[in-house]
Amino acid sequence: MGGAEQAYVNEAFASNWVSTVGPNITAFEREFENIIGLPAVALTSGTAAIHLGLRLLDIGPGDDVFCQDLTFVASANPIRYLGANPIFIDSEYGTWNMDPALLAKALHECAGRNRLPKAVVVVHLFGQCADMDAILEICDKYEIPVFEDAAEALGAFCNGRRAGTLGAAAAFSFNGNKIITTSGGGMLVARNVRWVERARFWSTQARDVGMAYEHSELGHNYRLSNVLAGIGRGQLQVLPGRVSQRRAVASNYIHAFAELPGISPMPEAPNSLHTRWLSCFLIDPEEFGCSRDDLMHRLDRASVESRPVWKPMHLQALYRDCPHYGGAVAEDLFRRGICFPSSSSLTIEDQLYVINQVRIAVGADPLPEISTALLAV
Ligand SMILES: Cc1ncc(COP(=O)(O)O)c(C=O)c1O
Repeated sequence: MGGAEQAYVNEAFASNWVSTVGPNITAFEREFENIIGLPAVALTSGTAAIHLGLRLLDIGPGDDVFCQDLTFVASANPIRYLGANPIFIDSEYGTWNMDPALLAKALHECAGRNRLPKAVVVVHLFGQCADMDAILEICDKYEIPVFEDAAEALGAFCNGRRAGTLGAAAAFSFNGNKIITTSGGGMLVARNVRWVERARFWSTQARDVGMAYEHSELGHNYRLSNVLAGIGRGQLQVLPGRVSQRRAVASNYIHAFAELPGISPMPEAPNSLHTRWLSCFLIDPEEFGCSRDDLMHRLDRASVESRPVWKPMHLQALYRDCPHYGGAVAEDLFRRGICFPSSSSLTIEDQLYVINQVRIAVGADPLPEISTALLAV
């Protein structure tokens, strides 16, 4: 927590606005809009934001929707909630996100069969934007809307523009593990203010205007509570600091592993700002002298928790039967990718401990300290 959250939560309790209406919700949305520059609606989760966002794009039963293959399952599930068919597109090594060349090939092929997807769900993984200029250019050609899953990328930039402001609509997550949190929550943004109003209406059970409980559309119970919005208001104040802290952690790992063979950081794409929500690296087992899995086990024995990169959707039992374009890059990143401890609360001593456990795992000398020269963001 940053410090101001408790006061906003206390206000909610003192005023008894503890449900899904109240001053914190309105203020949280306004404050988020001031940062992002688009109308926003606060919801219970990032998944809810993707679900409503895809509803706004009129996705329905039988539609095809392209989705990034390498992602967390919540990017794809809302496609299924709506009865549509996910089709997965592989990543490129430059960003770890959707490969624009493969997307172009897939769309060309679908156009040839006269069966274009209704939308494309692009993900900005681990705090890094996909190559949005290329992706938007291709999708514009076929007049297909792009939905940005920016759940992991609040604070990231692509060519000077914020992640989540480039497509037709976007979702952010405030899950407990994200760069800022409301304990659980999400935000949906869109260029079109009427879309955001529509999503707000759906998020509160789509109750029609008037005294009686009239419903002419299907709604959801997806509105964020005023208590949690209070946490969000405090967290927004510390967002720039959190991005700097995450980048500093990544920068320390990058410098400390620079001379080790066979370990390379997730690249930061040119003209972009990667928040380094997670510090991810690729292991080449031959050169590194230890496989990704062995490294994870050794770290675990030293009480350091690490995680593999997301398992691609085309390898999931849930989505095994869905068509996919490519998949080899996502599989490689999944098999060789590792996420090191990345929290903004890690002390220098914590980071040095992680660094040295990795170095010891491959027989390199431990570092005596993290040089302050390396701490620049
Ligand atoms: C890429 C991605 N999309 C969607 C989500 C879903 O967000 P939430 O957990 O807030 O529903 C997450 C994280 O949980 C995520 O990492």
